[in-house]
Amino acid sequence: MHDYEVLAREVMARCETLARFSENAGGIRRTFLSPPMRDCHREITNWVAPLGCKSKVDAAGNLRIRYPGTGVNGRTLSLLVGSHLDTVPNAGAYDGVLGVVISVALLRAIDGRRFPFAIEVVGFSEEEGIRFGIPFIGSRAMAGTLDEEVLERRDADGISVREAIADFGLNPAEISSMALREDENAIGYLEFHIEQGPVLENSDRSLGVVEAIAGQSRLKFIFIGRANHAGTTPMNLRHDAVAAAAEWIGAVERRAKSVPDLVATVGAIQAKPGVGNVIAGEAELSLDVRHRDDETRKAAVEYLVDQAKHIAKSRGLEVQILELVNQQAVAMDSFLSGQIAEAMQKAGCEPYRMVSGAGHDAMIMATKIPSAMIFLRTPGGISHDPAESVRVEDIAKAIECGVQLLDQLAASSKFLSFMPRT
Ligand code: GLV
Ligand code: MN
Ligand code: MN
Repeated sequence: MHDYEVLAREVMARCETLARFSENAGGIRRTFLSPPMRDCHREITNWVAPLGCKSKVDAAGNLRIRYPGTGVNGRTLSLLVGSHLDTVPNAGAYDGVLGVVISVALLRAIDGRRFPFAIEVVGFSEEEGIRFGIPFIGSRAMAGTLDEEVLERRDADGISVREAIADFGLNPAEISSMALREDENAIGYLEFHIEQGPVLENSDRSLGVVEAIAGQSRLKFIFIGRANHAGTTPMNLRHDAVAAAAEWIGAVERRAKSVPDLVATVGAIQAKPGVGNVIAGEAELSLDVRHRDDETRKAAVEYLVDQAKHIAKSRGLEVQILELVNQQAVAMDSFLSGQIAEAMQKAGCEPYRMVSGAGHDAMIMATKIPSAMIFLRTPGGISHDPAESVRVEDIAKAIECGVQLLDQLAASSKFLSFMPRT
């Protein structure tokens, strides 16, 4: 049996290695199919080659690593384990990456043992939605829910998703046929992740079991006023896009604070022409709204859309609104989550059940196959920031729990009922 602490130290070192593959020096930024993503794929592929795995990059840029199983009644089954390899700008070293690297550590920990199911480690290509403004490109392609329209979206340099895929040496025409098929017998998807805020730390626990993932809306708002001279235009004759945006941002914060567990964020704002002595003619803002209850989230979005229209009208401006994401909340699979809770207990951790406020590839995979998540404590509750960190002992517990889970699944009669009969 492996020493889980030793494997956990290796996991940390490997996350730090992958952190060096970045679009900018001195920080971590690795967006969808950017050149450092290729370095990441190469590095991980080298790690798993000695373990008897086959690796490939699929048409959506997901790294797919397959560790063979014994099969059941001559049929091949697989359990998917993974997370995302893309990052936000100025990221930490663990969000997403940790889940992929722990999945690889599981393959190391089982020491060549075979299970009835193959273990497929997936490094999803795109989860954060940074390059094209929409998240989950990799997992949506795999779940078969990626709209064709998404392929035509363009990044800040005018490159479309389709072109980005071709530029990476992949074939965008294969996207429509790359979704998991019934006959691939994928029995489930498991994701380890660090991005859960201060909850586990505050309750002094290493690991959590995710019960559900909050739904999320992402929209773009463009307030259009009139640019004019900052010195010559009296205050009562202005159509200031930034002033309208500021009033609306106040409404966003007030709404979120007034509804339990609702979170709403304006994380990006761009003023045009964006200089000090010109009243802004245009202000473009992002809105991100999340709640575990879809109706509460939708009601908040509706209210904030109305507020934007009302504020624009009262100031003689126009507002354009574009919906980018309307992702419903999803429950995790109760059987898999129950198995995780049992595995955690056997690994000496009291399972803590929680709802995820962050979005994850598991919420997309759950639309296709039973999916579940294991959260790890985040010191200081920080993620999406270089200060993001993780404790070695928590990673060791996560690996131990993962190995325990594989053994349980292989032995479970409920699990066997997933298996096709001859
Ligand atoms: C992903 O990190 C998200 O929840 O925005
Ligand atoms: Mn993230
Ligand atoms: Mn993440």
